[in-house]
Amino acid sequence: TYVVTESCIKCKYTDCVDVCPVDCFREGPNILVIDPDECIDCTLCVAECPVEAIFAEDDVPADQKDFIALNAELAKVWKPIVERKPGPPDADAWKDVKEKRQLLEK
Ligand code: SF4
Ligand code: F3S
Repeated sequence: TYVVTESCIKCKYTDCVDVCPVDCFREGPNILVIDPDECIDCTLCVAECPVEAIFAEDDVPADQKDFIALNAELAKVWKPIVERKPGPPDADAWKDVKEKRQLLEK
């Protein structure tokens, strides 16, 4: 499966959603996650993300490993998002911020 990591928080550009052939993105207040039971490893979303937030499970950086379980957990409770939509108005101000996991809203 593929995994959305910390960089997505407060950016949520949603470019990834448009290319997913199986609609496996789920939407939270300020991040998306991928449902690991639905992702077919097509890889298409990776290149779409302007902040490079998406990794194959095996390639998730060491300091982001907790996002593997977080995607699985939150995908169970959040609703699908199947169409791209405008990100938050201040998304660009957050795109270079690396440490923002404490801001993840559930
Ligand atoms: Fe969807 Fe493919 Fe990305 Fe999995 S790898 S989330 S199937 S676009
Ligand atoms: Fe997040 Fe990147 Fe998608 S910022 S919403 S993973 S395009």
